[in-house]
Amino acid sequence: MKYDLSQVYSRVFGLGMLAKLRRKVRGVIQRYGSNAVKRRLWNAEFSSGRWSGLENMEGDCLYPTLEKYSRGKAILDLGCGPGATAAEIRGYGSYTGVDISEVAIAKAQARNPLCDFAVSNIESYRPRREYDVILFADSLYYVARIPDVLHRYSAYLRPSGVFIARIKGVRPEWFTCTGFREHGQWARRYAVVSAIQQRCTVLEYQLFWYSDVIAVVAAAPLQR
Ligand SMILES: C[S@@+](CC[C@H](N)C(=O)[O-])C[C@H]1O[C@@H](n2cnc3c(N)ncnc32)[C@H](O)[C@@H]1O
Repeated sequence: MKYDLSQVYSRVFGLGMLAKLRRKVRGVIQRYGSNAVKRRLWNAEFSSGRWSGLENMEGDCLYPTLEKYSRGKAILDLGCGPGATAAEIRGYGSYTGVDISEVAIAKAQARNPLCDFAVSNIESYRPRREYDVILFADSLYYVARIPDVLHRYSAYLRPSGVFIARIKGVRPEWFTCTGFREHGQWARRYAVVSAIQQRCTVLEYQLFWYSDVIAVVAAAPLQR
């Protein structure tokens, strides 16, 4: 069979461009879409198995830090996904998980019948109590105004309470130098780190080198 190289190139390149465009559109919907549109998108992705890797996260780099701050205490997990964190960490007092996807929440509730779950948007959810730990495990990239979210939830942290965040795809220098203006593929991840630095005192952070660099950050809000 004879291949026309220019056709093969344009197909591969074209598909690459299309995939990039789809990723961009998806990112915009995830941040700025209406509640209903975001919910549909996440439900479809959880139903299709795209996020099945989140169902078992045994040994995740987040867990030692989370267990240290939550021993015997109350956790609010914002963007909790299908419930691996509640099932896999040890020693917490109580756990509330919130997610925009009812498909994810149904899995989370089935796996953790003694925990509380709510289907809600992080940006509008109103907690009914205060917590010792408020967790954002790879969920802050999806909100439009990250500093506002941190500010609002700081009112629901107990006096010695902390935010804990897991952030994928960071650059180590964001934690040691200032003055970055990241854009392109780094922009959202940098926005999360920068919002935490603006609104909080970073108590500790750890970096883990996998295919991406993953940061686990514990931070106390400047205002409560
Ligand atoms: C990458 S997954 C992380 C799930 C889980 N935290 C974990 O570490 O396995 C992001 C989660 O955030 C949820 N999410 C995204 N935007 C949200 C929003 N605006 N409000 C509530 N949940 C949201 C998604 O449904 C998804 O479950």
